[in-house]
Amino acid sequence: MTPTLPRVIGHRGAAAHAPENTLASFRKAAQLGVQMVEFDVKLTRNRVPVVIHDDTLDRTTDGSGPVANSDFAAVRMLDAGRKFAPEFRGERIPTLDEVLTLALELNLAVNIEIKPCPGREVETAEVALAAALKLWPADRPAPLVSSFAIESLLKAREIAPDWPRGYLIWERPAVWAANADAVGAATINISHEKETAETIAEYRATGRPVLAYTVNEAERAKQLFDLGVAGVFSDAPDRILAL
Ligand code: G3P
Ligand code: MG
Repeated sequence: MTPTLPRVIGHRGAAAHAPENTLASFRKAAQLGVQMVEFDVKLTRNRVPVVIHDDTLDRTTDGSGPVANSDFAAVRMLDAGRKFAPEFRGERIPTLDEVLTLALELNLAVNIEIKPCPGREVETAEVALAAALKLWPADRPAPLVSSFAIESLLKAREIAPDWPRGYLIWERPAVWAANADAVGAATINISHEKETAETIAEYRATGRPVLAYTVNEAERAKQLFDLGVAGVFSDAPDRILAL
């Protein structure tokens, strides 16, 4: 299924303006006029799906160590705002449920990126999508489910076959086209720094919309749109929306 895609997707909310992957960041994205937000989901040790990018807590919170080694109760105690700016003190690492609930309230479309800690590719997709399927109403545009992990996308295909999948590529493997077919990708999500006009044309030739991350300058977004990129993920979506 081809999802309805806006030109600009708020990356981790609006990560240039508020602490990434926090409720404050998703509220900020909505305030800026963004229609869709992207965020990263992984599991705590006790299998609670939470929204955080890194495998470890160190960069974005006042905690440390792998997310996969901490239970949700401990993760929840951490401050996920203060390191970004003092006025965000008290922001927490949100659960997937909380982010989806807020997105519904704010009328935001969502891109759930399954970002498993190593070795938890299948489990993360299974638990996160079971939670999302339970919560997300059938009459709202289905979430775009993306991942760099093929195993996660295959599991997503099995348990949420009707939700579109985005095949995320960092360094493109020789078998990228076969991978895109195997996971039933609706979109191909690429790094704008790694690709060229030629490779973008190859992706487009498969008939799939191409989305590019992470594009924070309007001029670069315009170049990519001119190359046929359908949409960009941006930490500063306001800059791109101003185009
Ligand atoms: O989904 C687009 C982008 O978020 C992928 O890279 O590392 O920012 O999650 P990353
Ligand atoms: Mg991401």
